[in-house]
Amino acid sequence: MGAEDVKFRYPLDDIRTKTDIVELISTYVSIKRSGKSLKALCPFHTEKTPSFIVNEDLQRWRCYGCGEYGDVFTFLMKIENITFSEAVQELAKRAGITIQRSPAEGKWENDREKLLHINNAAASYFSQALLAAPHAMAYLHKRGVSQESIVKYSLGYAPEDWRALAGYLTSKRIDLRDAEKAGLVIKSDKGSGYYDRFRNRIIFPIQDVTGKNIAFGGRAIGDEQPKYLNSPESPAFAKNKTLYGLNHARKSIAQEDRAIIVEGYLDALTAQCAGFSNTVATMGTALTPEHVNLLSRYTHTAVIAFDSDSAGMSATLRSAPMFEQAGFDVRVLCMPPGNDPDSLLREGKASEFTRLVTEAMPVVEYRLKLLQDSSDLKSDQGKVEMLKKASAILADVASAVERDRYIRGLAQYHPNFSGGATRAEEQIRRDVDNQVTARGRASSRSPQMPRETAKPDAVKSRPSALTLAERCLLKAMIMDPIWGPKVIAELPPEQFATSQGITLASAIANRLAAEKGMAWNDLAEDLAGTEAADLLSELSIADSGPDITAQAVEDCLKRLKIHWKRQRLKDLAARVEQGEIRSSDEEFAEYWRLVQELHNTV
Ligand code: CTP
Ligand code: MN
Repeated sequence: MGAEDVKFRYPLDDIRTKTDIVELISTYVSIKRSGKSLKALCPFHTEKTPSFIVNEDLQRWRCYGCGEYGDVFTFLMKIENITFSEAVQELAKRAGITIQRSPAEGKWENDREKLLHINNAAASYFSQALLAAPHAMAYLHKRGVSQESIVKYSLGYAPEDWRALAGYLTSKRIDLRDAEKAGLVIKSDKGSGYYDRFRNRIIFPIQDVTGKNIAFGGRAIGDEQPKYLNSPESPAFAKNKTLYGLNHARKSIAQEDRAIIVEGYLDALTAQCAGFSNTVATMGTALTPEHVNLLSRYTHTAVIAFDSDSAGMSATLRSAPMFEQAGFDVRVLCMPPGNDPDSLLREGKASEFTRLVTEAMPVVEYRLKLLQDSSDLKSDQGKVEMLKKASAILADVASAVERDRYIRGLAQYHPNFSGGATRAEEQIRRDVDNQVTARGRASSRSPQMPRETAKPDAVKSRPSALTLAERCLLKAMIMDPIWGPKVIAELPPEQFATSQGITLASAIANRLAAEKGMAWNDLAEDLAGTEAADLLSELSIADSGPDITAQAVEDCLKRLKIHWKRQRLKDLAARVEQGEIRSSDEEFAEYWRLVQELHNTV
């Protein structure tokens, strides 16, 4: 049955009016109200400033970044990767609307729905069973899991029995062949029966962002192996796209604009309950780009808080670049040896965990720390070897100013340190610079593997967040007389980001200074024959960007200012390095001010 023929029978309008589009979308992304409009970071492409607009009156959404648009049905289809008919069924169900079905359609539209239904039945069985299993309760209490947490996370217990769940599901008239697809039972080698996958285990239901039970994790109560047993992949469960605890955490991740990423079920559960409600777990697997993508709907700041063992460390080193690629500010939290977040918090050390989160370090610093921890810093040879490896790490840092900051910290390990810090620093700097140059050469020889800036073409051809911000400011100044003086006062025309932008901003500033009006035609005349003429006509096309609000202007100003400061710092740093600026010069003072100001953001 195709979507086409169902459309006519579905009460689409009824479902649409009974569905709150804002509530629906905010399950997946955090929507911010700015003035009259509702905005979010688009869940369908990667961006850092929101260009996804929700129109409550029309019950529609649109992204000005990637051009996607639609209504409640298309939103759910795209985000859940489901068909039109599934989206209709789901929204009808949520709105309490019953859809008449012909007997031929059967009770369930599709596999996924069926598996979710079976998982729900299993989840309720497991939680009943927990109440009847004092030793399982005792285990949870011993691990410090409260009664409230048991309820909040729907924890359960799978009895020590080969057919407990199988029997229950059968009594609910669920076909065990379907339960096998859900990974709850396993076909027995002999005979035709099925036996339970989870036996004598604490059950952690794994839920998607909307709270649906998509899979289960089962922890052994004793020392049985494996310690954790999970549902296999199924049409309802893709491990690489699921973060445990995200359904509870997503609101505070968006509010705090930061996510804490831990390894285990209990780490996430304990951290959330201890007040770190923005915590999610990768469930032991390596972090994937899909995980990062999922998180980027809510924030672009991540704190990695994996275990302090070697598996945790290497997972950290593998995960950090994925976050960086997606434009995250990523920090690494260093767990004390032998601890994971759960054990630390259970020892009542919430304040220490808070400190660790606050002190979480940039990835380069973490790599340097690992290197120093594993080096013999008592012997000269050990120090020299460490510095050699440190130079390689520092060569990855794009900013020369930031590199310098680390070099100053490393100078004390240089054999020539006693001869003066400056000389030691110079020698390390030379080493690092050599590596940077060598890599530059290597990468220009193999253009198919560019460093750092590798981005898919689709991303490149779209206007960058920076140029979008510039356009927003220019448009604001043209459309509404209140913005011109404010924007120009905070951001002089020469500090705009593109040469077209600078030309247009100058024309605007000139008209403002001469107290002339800001009509499109007049501006077009001023700009005739300049490179900014095209930009102006692009801006004049209606609907070419998100709504202009005070918040948007504020955000765009911030973005352009920081961009300008970074450019300025780069420029000054180069001239300081060339000896063109001396420490008594005014520009040197400016240089230092910028170094300090941008310290954490370069
Ligand atoms: N994991 C898994 N299968 C295993 C071991 C671990 O799926 N055999 C996943 C689980 O999601 C687990 C996470 O990896 O929560 C982290 O594993 P580990 O650090 O070994 O366990 P903890 O979470 O610390 O569990 P506990 O505190 O119960 O020992
Ligand atoms: Mn643990």
